[in-house]
Amino acid sequence: MARPRQKLTAREITKDHKGRPQVSEAQIAVHWKEEGYYRPPARFIGQANLHDPDFVAKFDEKYFPECFRHYAELLDWDEYWHTVLDADDPPFWKWFVGGKLNACYNCVDRHLAKYKNKAAIIFVPEPEGEAHVVVTYQELYKRVNETAALLGDFAGLKTGDRVTIHMPMIPELPITMLACARLGVAHSVVFGGFSGEACGLRAADSGSRVLIYADGYWRNGKWVDHKAAADIAVQTAKKEGQEIAKVLVWKRYAGRYGSETPMVMERDYFIDDVLKDYRGHTVEPVSQDSEAPLFLMYTSGTTGKPKGCQHRTGGYLAYVTGTAKYYQDLHPEDVYWCMADIGWITGHSYIVYGPLSLAATSVLYEGVPQFPDVGRPWRIAERLGVNIFHTSPTAIRMLRKAGADEPKKYNYHFKHMTTVGEPIEPEVWQWYYEVVGKGEAVIVDTWWQTETGGFLCSTKPALDPMKPGSAGPPALGIYPVIWDEEGSEVKPGSQTAGNICIRNPWPGIMQTIWGDPQRFVNQYYKKYNTNPHSKDWRDWPYYAADGAVLPADGYYRILGRVDDVINVAGHRLGTKEVESACLTVPEVAEAAVVPAVDEVKGRVPVVYISLKPGFLPKKAIQEKVTSTIETMIGKIARPKTVHMVPDMPKTRSGKIMRRVLAAISNQMDTGDITTLANPDVVEQIRELVQGRAAVKLREGPEDIKRFGQET
Ligand code: WTA
Repeated sequence: MARPRQKLTAREITKDHKGRPQVSEAQIAVHWKEEGYYRPPARFIGQANLHDPDFVAKFDEKYFPECFRHYAELLDWDEYWHTVLDADDPPFWKWFVGGKLNACYNCVDRHLAKYKNKAAIIFVPEPEGEAHVVVTYQELYKRVNETAALLGDFAGLKTGDRVTIHMPMIPELPITMLACARLGVAHSVVFGGFSGEACGLRAADSGSRVLIYADGYWRNGKWVDHKAAADIAVQTAKKEGQEIAKVLVWKRYAGRYGSETPMVMERDYFIDDVLKDYRGHTVEPVSQDSEAPLFLMYTSGTTGKPKGCQHRTGGYLAYVTGTAKYYQDLHPEDVYWCMADIGWITGHSYIVYGPLSLAATSVLYEGVPQFPDVGRPWRIAERLGVNIFHTSPTAIRMLRKAGADEPKKYNYHFKHMTTVGEPIEPEVWQWYYEVVGKGEAVIVDTWWQTETGGFLCSTKPALDPMKPGSAGPPALGIYPVIWDEEGSEVKPGSQTAGNICIRNPWPGIMQTIWGDPQRFVNQYYKKYNTNPHSKDWRDWPYYAADGAVLPADGYYRILGRVDDVINVAGHRLGTKEVESACLTVPEVAEAAVVPAVDEVKGRVPVVYISLKPGFLPKKAIQEKVTSTIETMIGKIARPKTVHMVPDMPKTRSGKIMRRVLAAISNQMDTGDITTLANPDVVEQIRELVQGRAAVKLREGPEDIKRFGQET
């Protein structure tokens, strides 16, 4: 499908030294060994939810958008919708218009008749000697109701409010989320590993008056005093003009406060104390408009400030329920363990909302997979009879590196496994398949994003062969295309990379960016929209900011981000956010952050700084930069190295050439540097980073080749 050619700006056309236009970066040729296919095991096919090619045919493009009614019909509606998709105001789509429902009712109440005695959540504490906690659907119903009663009455939260939740992986996290959903309060969960400052900024942006915390938790054998972050969050929010009226604190161990931080009078309250007043209380689930926001999830983008992806109730819940049923193959009889953190979108969609909507049993593990040793995940799987397993390439690489034969020692059997969050190397995929899956499990490599709510590309587990390293065909009802920078289609089989886009709206797509609809339009739709006044959804393709290639077999292979986002261990980090943090260090004049290849984490940030006049490079400055990044963002943003350079490589107009720094950090060719204002500095930086001896250059992965091209 060709799009009309767009007029290019001067910046987008690169020319060589003779003035001939060069191939744009999106068109880099991609060569890799084509991998063989693996067939799903017959035993899996026999029991799969998605086994009928006739059902797949119902999602043919000619049935769009009506096809998505098959997902919405998996839910219980208080009022049925009258229009599947209202696309009158692109790109602000409305799904299942006229419909009314409650997400908490769908994840809890409706299962009581059949499954009240079944485990909804099994909590596995990190300390191995501590007992597992089983929360049945009945218990979940009780706890969610009491919590909702407290949030509505004691905390004064009303339908339409936002609340920020900064909590670790304990059962009280999904309980709090579901209690919010019951009241129609939009939750904004901030990953527990983020700092108090990061939480405060997000709380302020969302206009939250209430913060919900836990006192502490176990991570890698250490007790983390988490409540300490709450005080910083409150101060940070205040600086941003947002008063926090109440901080509600769950205790990790009932009756025992595990934080050194004092509770602030008339601001901080222990939830378990207050809950005593709400024992046995029930709250009617608020019947929400299909389009009412269900939650915000902040994520990093191309500018410094994280943006609040706003997800809707009806479309989102329908999409995650449908994809969890057909792609994760969840049945109520399964024991499903997704190792992600609920603080990321994977946890929202595929630990909480998708699985619980399907009455599955979802395992919640508090800690890190390698604690106390790398056999832990397999012991958990064996103990609980986990048969569906979901994790990331980073975790798989780490578990393989530290204990390649470990899974063989344990007697567990997976029928289905997922990999998500980053591209997976074929040899890592093979280990996952043969050793973790014992050759018995089907694997889905699901490509998607915080913004997209649920999976966009994946094999249909019982119907499509698997291909290591490729996400595969588009998910049901998703119609992607790869375009080059100029908007021409990159044809399947052309061995050329381009920008993957989705041509149509789908129910899981975010509604907007909280408080910033223009940014939503600019970031995701402007690039390939040719007529901003068009009212036809066909003119509004979604730009994912990922590079991809498509061979003739129709299996998309995702190459990684094409913007300023670094994917660290499957977690998105905005380089601009990290740079802003560096610039708060008084000695730092300029900062540039680039990705470096890492054997386990995929990519890690490397920081370059230049110092203000009068300051000499010192280890103490490097340390200050690192600790500032950890305080302002969190430990996940910790740089691999902080290089202090005499000057940044710059264009004549003064822009920092990040692509040159990325090339140096990855032993790649720096390309043409003759147009720089200060080409000599490149060799100085190279020596500083790589040493005096000449380093053998590498080809380098596509995302790094492309990194920083826009500057
Ligand atoms: C990357 C996580 C390759 C991609 C669900 C995307 C992947 C970003 C895959 C979104 C995959 C996600 N193969 N790359 N299967 N899944 N990505 O928002 O670059 O945390 O844009 O959502 O992760 O990260 P996010």
